[in-house]
Amino acid sequence: MKKYITDFTVVGRRVYGDAYFAMELEHPGELPEIEAGQFVEVEVKGSREVMLRRPISVHDVDREHNRLTLLVQVVGNGTRRLSQIGEGERVSLVYPLGKGFLHGIGFVPQRPLLVGGGAGVAPLLYLSRCLTAQGASPTLLLGGRTAGLIASRERFEAVEGAHVHYSTEDGSLGEKGLVTQHSVFGKDYDAILCCGPTPMMRAVAREAVRRGVPCEVSLENRMACGVGACLCCVTETREGHKCVCKEGPVFTPQTLGWDNE
Ligand SMILES: Cc1cc2nc3c(=O)[nH]c(=O)nc-3n(C[C@H](O)[C@H](O)[C@H](O)COP(=O)(O)OP(=O)(O)OC[C@H]3O[C@@H](n4cnc5c(N)ncnc54)[C@H](O)[C@@H]3O)c2cc1C
Ligand code: FES
Repeated sequence: MKKYITDFTVVGRRVYGDAYFAMELEHPGELPEIEAGQFVEVEVKGSREVMLRRPISVHDVDREHNRLTLLVQVVGNGTRRLSQIGEGERVSLVYPLGKGFLHGIGFVPQRPLLVGGGAGVAPLLYLSRCLTAQGASPTLLLGGRTAGLIASRERFEAVEGAHVHYSTEDGSLGEKGLVTQHSVFGKDYDAILCCGPTPMMRAVAREAVRRGVPCEVSLENRMACGVGACLCCVTETREGHKCVCKEGPVFTPQTLGWDNE
């Protein structure tokens, strides 16, 4: 898939509590094809500490207005600087990067469960739009420590044909507990697609493998170049070492060797 380096214009911003913000970016012309689960490398201007672009998933795509939205958790200098960018400013993106969801399972599920935790909920919005556009009826299960840490709920709840559920560790939203303890987690699905903290993805993948349900997880390894050149994101798999930025970030538990834990 062809990659682009383009200056986008910030046309919208929304802050979610102390930890998250969403940035809506307008492309100067028609947006190229973008797969759900692909990511962009965002340039961080105006920071002496941050040299490298930061990888961020595509949260939403609005083809009518040539816009895409990023949902970002502020965790360090790079994301803090991004949170300070105002409307009208330009942001350089390298995109679309990586291989998105559904390559590994090889079909379009009609009754999938999409499980997200923390910043890992980000790619699941565009994924749920792509799936509903193909007739699927996804169940979304979004988890966090507390209600304030599950961002972009209004966008998830607005996806027609998707069913959204929440779990929080303190019980402040949805069912109390971990995503794997939620009552919808144990239901019958034709695929489970997941992005979030590694322990969560491992627990979800373990259960999917146990039930024989096709599954994919999206890794968030530290990255630099984002295009398979520097090897800093390499992960060990059953098929040898793979660049998460180029051959992922989405993998099956079988490829990662997570199926015999
Ligand atoms: C493919 C991919 C997609 C991503 N999508 C999103 C997204 O949609 N929204 C979002 O908020 N974040 C996303 N991330 C994570 C994001 O890239 C990092 O949080 C960001 O690069 C941190 O930059 P920083 O300069 O603010 O923090 P740094 O100063 O670089 O790091 C601050 C702290 O965050 C930790 N950290 C840094 N990078 C990661 C990472 N990749 N995973 C876990 N911990 C990390 C560091 O260990 C450190 O403790 C994604 C990462 C990848 C690889
Ligand atoms: S980030 Fe450079 S090879 Fe993946």
